[in-house]
Amino acid sequence: MSSIGQYDRGLVRDLKGRSFTRVADWSPQELLQVLDLADDLKRKQQAREEHRLLPGRTLGMIFQKPSTRTRVSFEVGIYQLGGAGLYLSAGDLQLGRGETIKDTAIVLSRYLDAIMIRTFAQTDVEELAANASIPVINGLTDSSHPCQALADVMTIRERFGRLEGLKVAYLGDGNNVCASLMVACAKLGMDFASATPASYRPAEEAVRIAREAGGSVELTDDPRTAVAGADVLYTDVWTSMGQDAEREERLRDLAGYGIDADLVRQASDKAIVLHCLPAHYGEEITEDVLYGPQSAVWDEAENRLHAQKALMALVIR
Ligand code: CP
Ligand code: NVA
Repeated sequence: MSSIGQYDRGLVRDLKGRSFTRVADWSPQELLQVLDLADDLKRKQQAREEHRLLPGRTLGMIFQKPSTRTRVSFEVGIYQLGGAGLYLSAGDLQLGRGETIKDTAIVLSRYLDAIMIRTFAQTDVEELAANASIPVINGLTDSSHPCQALADVMTIRERFGRLEGLKVAYLGDGNNVCASLMVACAKLGMDFASATPASYRPAEEAVRIAREAGGSVELTDDPRTAVAGADVLYTDVWTSMGQDAEREERLRDLAGYGIDADLVRQASDKAIVLHCLPAHYGEEITEDVLYGPQSAVWDEAENRLHAQKALMALVIR
């Protein structure tokens, strides 16, 4: 099968060749197209139905930071679609010895059908995408984690049957995961509230983009205010990759912003708890909540696979 067959309708063609470096650059309709295909591919994978939408295609995966979920879900995902993934440690590439991002992008475009990159600076991902002739997918930077946001909204829609009108409360460090989730929520009609200490608020640019997308974004320093009426409670680690030297300070500053059973009770008993993982029990989330009846964390982790398969099937030629 050389095209995406039954999915080859309307807007689907428009996504071929597109990069996914920021949620901000994709319209609500384009994001929903990924979610719809993700639901379908999840069902097919679970039923062991054939869905080799990308036969013979290759995905290069550049990692400058560690990963469990992103690495495994992308590699397994491209394989299940009929293609193959190559793990490329940034330190083993000539990139690590000073070859430019531009030259790397041009050369890799001659071999591969798409590139996934996890690195520090968002500008490096944008530069890679600007110089590649194949789609570039952002697998996390210091300022964003768009593939995580896809799996997050997929999980929310799966649990509630809709997105519009739901309220998402984010607790803790207003980091990369928070920024992408906030913009995705705004684009898809959800209300977003973050509870963080003042100096850990989400980046102003992400807040501006979310508000310009029409989203209601509330920034508070009070976890109880944020979770009041919330359908989704979300948190992430307090010390992100690259911030290890700040760990002790962060533990002090963020104490009181973790999700525990008492805070979950402040939201509705229908509320779900999400965490992008990895988790640090007793810091941003307690173990009982992570494994508790309201946790959708494991489905969320699984949905990385389905959401990214849909993304790849839509953008890779
Ligand atoms: N959530 C997430 O991106 O996990 P990894 O760091 O394991 O890829
Ligand atoms: N905010 C975390 C997410 C890890 C998936 C980090 O950047 O390390």
